[in-house]
Amino acid sequence: MSQRRQLILNLFIYPGGHHEAAWRFRDAAYKQVLDIGFYQALARRAEAEKMDAVFFADGPALADDVRYAQRFRLEPLTWLSAIAAATSRIGLIGTASTSYMEPYNLARLYASLDHLSHGRAGWNIVTTSAPQAAQNFGLPEHPPHAERYARAREFVDVVTQLWDSWEDDAVINDPASGIFADTDRIHPIDHVGQYFRVGGPLNLPRSPQGRPVYVQAGSSEDGRAFAARYAEAIFTAHQTVESAKAFYADIRQQVRGFGRDPDHVKILPGISPFIGSTQAEADRLQEEFNDLIQPGYSLAQLRQFTGLDLAGHDLDGPFPRHLIEIGGPRGLASRFQLVLDIVDRERPTIRQLVQRLAGARGHWVIAGPPEKIADAIQAWFEGGAADGFNVMPPWLPGGVHAFTDHVLPLLRKRGLARLDYSGATLRDHYGLPRPRSVFAAAGAGGTST
Ligand SMILES: Cc1cc2nc3c(=O)[nH]c(=O)nc-3n(C[C@H](O)[C@H](O)[C@H](O)COP(=O)(O)O)c2cc1C
Repeated sequence: MSQRRQLILNLFIYPGGHHEAAWRFRDAAYKQVLDIGFYQALARRAEAEKMDAVFFADGPALADDVRYAQRFRLEPLTWLSAIAAATSRIGLIGTASTSYMEPYNLARLYASLDHLSHGRAGWNIVTTSAPQAAQNFGLPEHPPHAERYARAREFVDVVTQLWDSWEDDAVINDPASGIFADTDRIHPIDHVGQYFRVGGPLNLPRSPQGRPVYVQAGSSEDGRAFAARYAEAIFTAHQTVESAKAFYADIRQQVRGFGRDPDHVKILPGISPFIGSTQAEADRLQEEFNDLIQPGYSLAQLRQFTGLDLAGHDLDGPFPRHLIEIGGPRGLASRFQLVLDIVDRERPTIRQLVQRLAGARGHWVIAGPPEKIADAIQAWFEGGAADGFNVMPPWLPGGVHAFTDHVLPLLRKRGLARLDYSGATLRDHYGLPRPRSVFAAAGAGGTST
């Protein structure tokens, strides 16, 4: 009997919590925001609850207004290595940019994490939406959206070849014969492309998963095509089950178009739950957070999404839809569309809109008792809208505890969430195959898949 389909649940840890004012909340651990022990404890908690992975976002620039929010960036691989040392089964996913890194360095970083963690690494592939990053890498301006994706395609092809450049059985490691590696099974990649020239091979053996898991998070047209070609897991933001279902169906169709198995591409929207014992209590909790927001910060966020600077506008007046330029900022193409959909659907005031986005930057925010949250998760999961979720706690650590103490037990009771890990690697947790080296496949006249 085939095993029942179960939810993939990642813990998306954002310093300070996902709500933009979380650090000011009466119960927030705001003093521990740079304390690795604090994050190790959160990761151990997620592991004890058999969640699939922890995820750490990144951007190589100080993009947000840190005057009002704990929005700085610890470097993900450094952070994940410390988490790897404190855990043994939970997956470790971190962001790295194809626009502001070199393939050889990135290939080494993630392959090393995969070795050190015995096969738990995942790479969230982003092209970086923050234009401010360009000035940190000697570029006159941030590359255009389409070009960023063109570079990203070549980047991933090069990294894949580097991860495959040692065949799985290249390491002999035999002191008696004095042979460490079979160098016939270690291959240069000799890549010459539009953006990169990379000789290879990589300078370390093939990692436990063969290749760390390919995660991707863009939802624009370019982003979707890129995801359908390369991603094994897709992070996405949706406000409604309808929009999530449409995205889900579109991606699976595009994946088939590339000759790939859609069951090997996991689609994971974000969910940020405000949990209370009653609806009223949950609403009060969310209100308490929204009362802490600071318009200076929220309007800066809104400008990143819409390109509009609304400083000086009446916050309780209607959002000035007529000021929006069609096509809008291309930095976060899909998020721009998401905000536009909220405005057209709900005609909010400026304050209502920034409160909507304050929760989780456009991701699904839901408030209610545990049963309501579990029902909603089950409806998206069984309704063709998701294979699981990035759980985005509004604040830390309480938002994590509320989800693991009150919602996860309900999901387990319904058979929707795992009772225990059945494997050791992130690929095992996600139900993904381990890819063969393209060189081994070529040598054997087969394909790598
Ligand atoms: C769950 C999730 C996590 C993301 N994490 C990052 C991140 O860590 N760094 C980043 O630059 N962008 C991140 N993004 C943004 C995407 O990479 C991308 O820029 C955005 O979705 C817009 O892509 P698009 O222009 O293809 O629509 C994330 C998006 C989602 C949905």
